[in-house]
Amino acid sequence: MESRMIGIGVVGLGHWGPNHVRVFSQCAGARVVVAADLSEARRRHVSQLYRDVAVVADAGDVFTRGDVDAVVIATPARTHFAMARAALEAGKHVLLEKPMCTSLAEARALLALADRTERVLMHGHVFLYNEGIRYLHAGIAAGTFGAVQYAHATRTNLGPIRRDANVVEDLATHEITIFDYLFGGPPNWVSAVGSRLLGTDREDVSFVTLQYGESSLAHAHVSWLNPQKVRTLTIVGTQRMVVWNDMEPLEPVRVFDKGLMEEPYYDSFGEFQLRLRDGDIVIPKLNLQEPLRVQAEAFLRRLTSGERTISEGADGVRLVACLEAIEQSMREEGRRVAVPAEVCL
Ligand SMILES: NC(=O)c1ccc[n+]([C@@H]2O[C@H](COP(=O)([O-])OP(=O)(O)OC[C@H]3O[C@@H](n4cnc5c(N)ncnc54)[C@H](O)[C@@H]3O)[C@@H](O)[C@H]2O)c1
Repeated sequence: MESRMIGIGVVGLGHWGPNHVRVFSQCAGARVVVAADLSEARRRHVSQLYRDVAVVADAGDVFTRGDVDAVVIATPARTHFAMARAALEAGKHVLLEKPMCTSLAEARALLALADRTERVLMHGHVFLYNEGIRYLHAGIAAGTFGAVQYAHATRTNLGPIRRDANVVEDLATHEITIFDYLFGGPPNWVSAVGSRLLGTDREDVSFVTLQYGESSLAHAHVSWLNPQKVRTLTIVGTQRMVVWNDMEPLEPVRVFDKGLMEEPYYDSFGEFQLRLRDGDIVIPKLNLQEPLRVQAEAFLRRLTSGERTISEGADGVRLVACLEAIEQSMREEGRRVAVPAEVCL
């Protein structure tokens, strides 16, 4: 694409879409020209904040505009397939919110369509653009932590409860994309249980176990019914352990030199309490930036220079394959369900 302003259209102006309008409006080389939502109130909200952005009700009016090069789709997941298909068929590049769609068949069809139309199909896997997660990725790749033995993630809060998805589709999508990025591919199998504690027909709490590579286990606890907002990920390696805490905005990562101490004999409760692990705790300096903005810039670089991103094409298909396997496992009370090997392609 030659070096002129890239025209962006944003579809879906609910809780999340306006953030895309904001970050693309701040990016050099891009201009948000139009935004769409079925809701008049949401259109009014965005047009009051961004007076240069046209607002329309019908997403089709975004896809047919000649000044729109790329479309961000931030509508509920069940609409993603039809939306993204229409945008790709209209010749637009697409940044599609997670999960890219609600079935593996749809995900594969979208991927094939993007190939056929030679358009970019990027996924909104925003945590891969988080500096803390990138630090973990770089450390694992460089062997700084040793071999990864297991990973454990918690993502809980009291709500917000989605009406269009269960807690796995809403929250565990982030953990699955992070694990995929850190372990370098999809799990071999998943096992998950969930509960419907809030009286809806969707799981609001879930415990998901995934197995990667030879023997690395990963576990995610996701919940809409928890008094605390927690977003943590612990990686236990043979050399070091690392904790990422997204609720610590200034110092989100701590690296623990491991060294399990030999169990001493102690004579008092005080000694027992003071028994420490061996080694230092390091807080790395990170270049913290808003992940959504970093993701938007990666999308724009992809369109202008072709630089591949870490969340496009088959990356989204692997997420949908995992979600399908997790759904099946939850229906079968935690049975291990294999993730199809061909989603690695
Ligand atoms: N990456 C993240 O961290 C993150 C965070 C929140 C949401 N999301 C994703 O973003 C998407 C939207 O989530 P949300 O929380 O904003 O949902 P939401 O329900 O708050 O908003 C969705 C909006 O889409 C509009 N809409 C629905 N169908 C439409 C159509 N056919 N044409 C035009 N507008 C339509 C609705 O009117 C609504 O305003 C979901 O896929 C969700 O998973 C991602």
